Amino acid sequence: MNEKQRLEGQQVVTANPTDKKSEKDYSKYFETVFTPPSLKDAKKRGKEEVKYHNDFNIPEEFLGMGKGRKFYIRTYGCQMNEHDTEVMAGIFMGLGYEPTDTVDDANVILLNTCAIRENAENKVFGELGHLKHLKKEKPDLLLGVCGCMSQEESVVNKILKTYTQVDMIFGTHNIHRLPNILQEAYMSKEMVIEVWSKEGDVIENLPKVRQGKIKAWVNIMYGCDKFCTYCIVPYTRGKERSRRPEEIIHEVRQLAAQGYKEVTLLGQNVNAYGKDFEDIKYGLGDLMDEIRKIDIPRVRFTTSHPRDFDDYLIDVLAKGGNLLEHIHLPVQSGSTEVLKIMARKYTREQYLELVRKIKAAIPNATFTTDIIVGYPNETEEQFQETLSLYREVGYEAAYTFIYSPREGTPAAKMQDNVPMEVKKERLQRLNAVVNEFSAEAMKKYHGQTVEVLVEGESKNNPDVLAGYTRKNKLVNFIGPKAAIGQIVKVKITDAKTWSLNGEMVEELDAVEVE
Ligand code: 5AD
Ligand code: SF4
Repeated sequence: MNEKQRLEGQQVVTANPTDKKSEKDYSKYFETVFTPPSLKDAKKRGKEEVKYHNDFNIPEEFLGMGKGRKFYIRTYGCQMNEHDTEVMAGIFMGLGYEPTDTVDDANVILLNTCAIRENAENKVFGELGHLKHLKKEKPDLLLGVCGCMSQEESVVNKILKTYTQVDMIFGTHNIHRLPNILQEAYMSKEMVIEVWSKEGDVIENLPKVRQGKIKAWVNIMYGCDKFCTYCIVPYTRGKERSRRPEEIIHEVRQLAAQGYKEVTLLGQNVNAYGKDFEDIKYGLGDLMDEIRKIDIPRVRFTTSHPRDFDDYLIDVLAKGGNLLEHIHLPVQSGSTEVLKIMARKYTREQYLELVRKIKAAIPNATFTTDIIVGYPNETEEQFQETLSLYREVGYEAAYTFIYSPREGTPAAKMQDNVPMEVKKERLQRLNAVVNEFSAEAMKKYHGQTVEVLVEGESKNNPDVLAGYTRKNKLVNFIGPKAAIGQIVKVKITDAKTWSLNGEMVEELDAVEVE
């Protein structure tokens, strides 16, 4: 499929709300000129095969576009967004732009946004407010909004009406179109909007500028078909599309050859990897079994969905080596009734059975999770079930959230009888348990020697180095700067709730806990 065909039926819209005077005029204007992205369209899952493209290139006429110009990208949200930023940075560099880490210095500013909760969105609107003055001082500055929020029609409408300082909005499926979007924005006085609501493609050869030289993200799949009732992601990221195994393996091999020490395989629901292949039967277990043979010390994956976590994957993970014994397994709630309303498609018992199986196969596995409290109509008893499940699994850490209604999702339409104070209080009670379990897990490290992948100087003290263990525990320790980028042994001298302190040791002088 060529670019023209790809564009067919898709939206490439420019709109200039500033030339309309009143709210009333706006609505008239939008009805006729502007077709917003559609969450309804984004929900559709067609039968057509995933199309793979290896034909990305920067059109010759755009090659000098960035000469003498600098770009700045601020990233919100998950690792997927972090990685998308690396791709956009690659495209900017290909266009001749230079990176800058201050907004004042930038000629193009992009906000790569997250839509998962309302507070994530509010941060972006706040930032757009702050950036308004820069546009006044520097009329040539281009200000863009991309990422998950751009996929929401309500957000695009709000930007059009209220944040007219924005020059371009483009969606998660439009990243490879950045050169064209920039060109359009330079040429036109109008706001450039390009948001494709539905996309089944995978574009393989996009350039990337990775943020570090030690750890790297590797996409294994895009999108999500799970449609948990609270979640906006299946709408903002489209249908599940897996990258071909040979492409992923090639990328990991290249990273290993470049000296990277850790890769994290990324997807919104990595356990569904390969389900969309029509010609081969190949899942995450098969992929991990091949990647474990690559000479790279650490391999992580995120995010898992318990429903698709199969026995073969457990067998492969049990082989250990570079496959780390840390499993992030979002549970969301410990109540079967709430899980049902969330459409998680497993019960409390099924989840616990999965954990039991993993623990049996990988005895030193540690678990972390994501939990939402205050789901619509969640009762105290149902919340108590979440607390008891937390204790039963013995998680070592968790990301905990108050439920945030997302427009367009089924849960947003549910009546909710749980007052916000109750939700907040539940979150506090849950976090107290989370802290208790983390502190308990950390205490066990006292006097032990662990392997630490050293990432750099500690944020708080440049004389101290910081890195992570195989189980993703932060360790601060005294050691030589030459250790940065290496895996070293550190003896733990002090355990805090969320981090460990230690000293680098030459030899293993204690039994390793990992
Ligand atoms: N409200 C609160 N938390 C949410 N998450 C996803 N959607 C919502 C929402 N609407 C949480 C889930 C998910 C994590 C990435 O964010 O726990 O696993
Ligand atoms: Fe946020 Fe989800 Fe989008 Fe990641 S995929 S940026 S978590 S909404």
